[in-house]
Amino acid sequence: MSKRSPYEVRPALAGLHPYEPGRPIEEIEAKYGLDSPPVKLASNENPYSPPEQLKEIYCQEFSQLNRYPDGGSYYLREALSEKYDWPMDGIVVGAGSDEVLDCLAKAMLEPGCEIVCGDPSFVIYQMDALKMGARPVTVKLTRDFQFDLEAMVDAVTENTRWVCLPNPNNPTARYITTTQLEEFFAALPSHCLLLLDEAYFEFIDSEDYPDGIEFLKNRTEDQAGLVVLRTFSKAYALPGLRVGYGLMEPRLARELHKVRPPFNITRPTQAVAVEALKQEEFLAWSREKIISERRRLEVEFESRGIDFVQPSANFILAEAPGDLTADELFEKLLPEGVIIRSMSPYGLEKHVRITVGKPIENQILLSALDNVCGF
Ligand SMILES: Cc1ncc(COP(=O)(O)O)c(C=O)c1O
Repeated sequence: MSKRSPYEVRPALAGLHPYEPGRPIEEIEAKYGLDSPPVKLASNENPYSPPEQLKEIYCQEFSQLNRYPDGGSYYLREALSEKYDWPMDGIVVGAGSDEVLDCLAKAMLEPGCEIVCGDPSFVIYQMDALKMGARPVTVKLTRDFQFDLEAMVDAVTENTRWVCLPNPNNPTARYITTTQLEEFFAALPSHCLLLLDEAYFEFIDSEDYPDGIEFLKNRTEDQAGLVVLRTFSKAYALPGLRVGYGLMEPRLARELHKVRPPFNITRPTQAVAVEALKQEEFLAWSREKIISERRRLEVEFESRGIDFVQPSANFILAEAPGDLTADELFEKLLPEGVIIRSMSPYGLEKHVRITVGKPIENQILLSALDNVCGF
């Protein structure tokens, strides 16, 4: 008889740890006996609530919850297809773009495969590779926190399936330009797939910031494959809804539907996401508020001598002042009612990632920094 444990899991999981999200507001409030909920600047969220119109649509779906949702997110894919002028059978919707990545991993990765990604970069790419038994090959960012694009091309082997490029990168908030992306994409061999993760796309309106969907439309057969990932979690202010999507060649999308959980997107989520796509005004308004507040924080950081990486989206990678490590700064800000993210798990012992909040929240952050660092 086999001595196998009934709970044995695949060996690939041995070195993996569950994803560590930022600590919940309620936990910090209770632990430090704070008078009001702490300011959470830890997860690159939009600090503004989504537009009120969406609430009604969400509630309207309540009476239909006795029915399964549309398993293929038909109307949402149709709306996305119209918005981007890309065939709807080349669009896959997931519970966050994380789930689209998960489907890509299940469909494409196995032991013997490699993925290439920056270090530090969004950690989920590596986790997806590891869970499938594939090998993540990491390429250190340059000293000024840019992707080392040449080294990433050099790291590609015949076993490489994905090259992961979040643009802008998380946690650095730096982006690569249209020209850089053109050269990079052209240099990738045609057997690998560029995962262009544009989670923060709607925050950026610089002229030299590339639109991945244009690259997808102009791609030729002799080039590398391309998947463009976007999400409702950031600029659309809907991370609690869990919905994101990938645009790709329909032949790849067909394969992802084989591994996508059935009914993965709830009824209220599909209905709200369709409506959210029309909320251009909210998008422009919140982007402007967030970017102008980010500029204010940049000035305030400069005046305090806090170094930071020039940001492009709704978060800033900053250096802990003086002798403080990132972990120490994070811990010291908690009793002040401010939650930021230490980047020590990413190997950046001196850096923290701070999401831009509302003006009042940013003011609380600055006062807390003054208290803690004696500015
Ligand atoms: C670069 C990047 N990609 C993807 C995601 C995941 O987004 P979603 O909420 O759509 O799963 C994040 C979330 O922080 C991110 O920073």
